[in-house]
Amino acid sequence: MKPANPYLPWEAEIVDRIQETPDIFTWRLRFTDREVARQYGFKHGQFNMLYLYGVGEVAISVMSNEGEELLHTIRAVGRVTRAMMELKVGDHIGVRGPFGSAWPLDVARGKDIVFVTAGLGCAPVTSSIKHVVANRADYGRLVIMQSVRHRNEGLWEPQYDEWRSLPDTQVLLTASRDKTRWPHWHLGRVSVLLDEAQYDKQNCVVMMCGPDQMMADTSRTLVDLGVPGESIHVSLERNMQCAVGHCGHCQLGQHFVCKDGPIFTWPQVAELMRVKGY
Ligand SMILES: Cc1cc2nc3c(=O)[nH]c(=O)nc-3n(C[C@H](O)[C@H](O)[C@H](O)COP(=O)(O)OP(=O)(O)OC[C@H]3O[C@@H](n4cnc5c(N)ncnc54)[C@H](O)[C@@H]3O)c2cc1C
Ligand code: FES
Repeated sequence: MKPANPYLPWEAEIVDRIQETPDIFTWRLRFTDREVARQYGFKHGQFNMLYLYGVGEVAISVMSNEGEELLHTIRAVGRVTRAMMELKVGDHIGVRGPFGSAWPLDVARGKDIVFVTAGLGCAPVTSSIKHVVANRADYGRLVIMQSVRHRNEGLWEPQYDEWRSLPDTQVLLTASRDKTRWPHWHLGRVSVLLDEAQYDKQNCVVMMCGPDQMMADTSRTLVDLGVPGESIHVSLERNMQCAVGHCGHCQLGQHFVCKDGPIFTWPQVAELMRVKGY
């Protein structure tokens, strides 16, 4: 269900709130209009614009849409997200969406699937990982690589433990700033995991999310290792205002990240990501 006016937010209530780390929290939201709640649907990888009345609006990936509830995990980094962290269960916010392109889960059928994420970059891929796990027979090997700064930011660790035990599945985790060597954890950035990952480089789909530099470096390395550029998909974060391709705030070369992205193939953005400040 899309509103007649894409600028008008629907109202949603915070029905649950989990403080994951000092600056990361998860909201469980329910639309106050039951018809909207019933009809809302998203594709894996899309995002919503969450509006804190009187403060501002931010783009946040849809983590999942369980029953009639919507999950978002948010890191408080600035004006709007810090104010959002103060909200309590029962408070209301505005929601516009879903917007943007989706991960190529259909194209990926029958192929090995490689997820590469850094930081909260896991949020946009979590629903896709769950989809692959729930439809395991449709896909080849599943490799999940995640890098965080400290192990306590590995929010999805209990799920990783569960996924690690699945057949043909590899979960590789690394913490870039931890000094302690934990079981199942590496030390360093995501690049330290690439050598250990086992998948068919010629017949895989890579889905990647995280800081631009990490995605650019990793994509170049994967191409050097023999992964075709078209098989690599990156989810970009840019300043979003309208989210419908009108204002130009999210423009990246010829692309509007809100409308043509946020998910692009590596060849679509490889040259643009060389340009500083784009
Ligand atoms: C498609 C898309 C999906 C996104 N999904 C999520 C998500 O699931 N969860 C989530 O928490 N965020 C997500 N973001 C990022 C989120 O939109 C921004 O963090 C948010 O807009 C920041 O708004 P603010 O007003 O709180 O901070 P601002 O006041 O705009 O920024 C304050 C300071 O924080 C820095 N900053 C801004 N954004 C980030 C960032 N992402 N990481 C680190 N520093 C930053 C700025 O450079 C600035 O210095 C997504 C963004 C896009 C485009
Ligand atoms: S956010 Fe306005 S054009 Fe993309």
